Amino acid sequence: MKTISNLKRMQREAAHLKQLGKKIALVPTMGALHEGHLSLARLARRHGDVVVLSVYVNPKQFGPREDFTKYPRPFARDRRLAADNGVDILFAPGNLYADDASVTVSESVLSQGRCGAFRPGHFDGVATVVAKLFNLTRADAAIFGQKDAQQCDVLERMARDLNFPVEIVRAPIARDADGVARSSRNAYLSTAERQVAARFAAELGKSASVGDARWRLEKIAGLKLQYAEAANGRLCAAVWIGRTRLIDNVELKTQNPKRKTTTPKLKT
Ligand code: PAF
Repeated sequence: MKTISNLKRMQREAAHLKQLGKKIALVPTMGALHEGHLSLARLARRHGDVVVLSVYVNPKQFGPREDFTKYPRPFARDRRLAADNGVDILFAPGNLYADDASVTVSESVLSQGRCGAFRPGHFDGVATVVAKLFNLTRADAAIFGQKDAQQCDVLERMARDLNFPVEIVRAPIARDADGVARSSRNAYLSTAERQVAARFAAELGKSASVGDARWRLEKIAGLKLQYAEAANGRLCAAVWIGRTRLIDNVELKTQNPKRKTTTPKLKT
């Protein structure tokens, strides 16, 4: 596995791979890799000849009172896990932004509501960094976890509307044995909080509608519901457990989604 931190070197490497006719599959991450990320890396192998996994804790997607500084950064462990899970190139830039950077990508419809209502600017930060990663790695396919359902919606729309030649692949949510969706932020949970997180996953999984989800989740001691909303055929929720914010979503089987947000393909 190659490790690249320099942006120009990543671009040269991607150009070289393209000349050789290789398909590049990108797994964008913020590091602190867990089994969820590793399953994305393994899935990426099916979508490309060369798997690039990026590790970059993107400052532009954190609000001023969010956990940017305390976000875990176990780089040596990440590198080992990436190498053991078939990653060919670990792209770990130190900084992705010029000091006077003044161009950003902004999505104005699908980024509203759900997490967007509570994390102003978050999806602009995500769209901007992912657009840069697409350009730097020249990805043919990019793999994202369905846990971040709204992120997937926004990035599909961005790829379509800005004509990125990249297939956005949504990977199913990876869960631990207790049902909790895998997330780097699970590392913040105490043992007692982890049990609350397991109830969150279980009750969301049983929910038949937005109202039902709100009713079930609001009953859980130690959990503060931030939102439960339906979008794009999914029942999505965010909760606070102590000082940790978790999100999760399940398929909405029994109701028409309140807001249909699927991004139709462009007819060419
Ligand atoms: O899902 C994440 O980890 C991040 O939002 C992403 C896509 C790597 C962009 O920083």
